[in-house]
Amino acid sequence: MAITYDYIDDYLYRIAQPRDLLLQKMEEEADTGAVPIIGPLVGRLLYNLARSSQSKNILEIGTAIGYSGIWLGRAVAPKGLVTTIDKDPERIKRAEKNIAEAKLQKIIKVLKGDALHILPTLKDEYDLVFLDSDKDIYLDAFKLSVKKLRKGGLFIADNTLWGGDVAKGGKSELTQTMIKFNKEVSGYPGMSTVIVPLRDGVLVGLKE
Ligand code: DHB
Ligand code: MG
Repeated sequence: MAITYDYIDDYLYRIAQPRDLLLQKMEEEADTGAVPIIGPLVGRLLYNLARSSQSKNILEIGTAIGYSGIWLGRAVAPKGLVTTIDKDPERIKRAEKNIAEAKLQKIIKVLKGDALHILPTLKDEYDLVFLDSDKDIYLDAFKLSVKKLRKGGLFIADNTLWGGDVAKGGKSELTQTMIKFNKEVSGYPGMSTVIVPLRDGVLVGLKE
């Protein structure tokens, strides 16, 4: 998943500000447990974007073990809310344990189920949407969640460079899925988008 040169990545991780024990533990857990997490660089980017946009109500699609949710939860605490959706019961169990350890149970609400079914039922308007679910639902999840995003809100998606394969025009199904996703989101009326080549590529869109 090296998008930039290794020596640049090494430097970025070396200079990354220290995390607390819980995030460190989750970073190690992800390294050994085959659950992908955004890691400290994208975590910090999300935190800074959530803080600088003064986001209070955040929607996350793809909870995994709660690592990104904790970065977002800390950004909106003590008054904000993060609603996060995942369909994998095993991951949700781990996420809830980590969220409790972070003392963010009141800030982060985990919804269990299929995001494409849950999204149309949500009544809130969100300041920030973060998409990091199964990649095959990315485009549908974008179309459903962008309707819930306030004007001036941020739409952020992880893994949009897909190991660099999107830039090579790779033929695998997931690469093609991501190429289509990037094209549609970038062409979406009123969206100001850029892909930041951090880790696996983070698309940052502003709904104008
Ligand atoms: C994968 C998914 C992710 O969300 C990620 O950040 C890295 C890898 C994957 O499905 O391989
Ligand atoms: Mg991801």
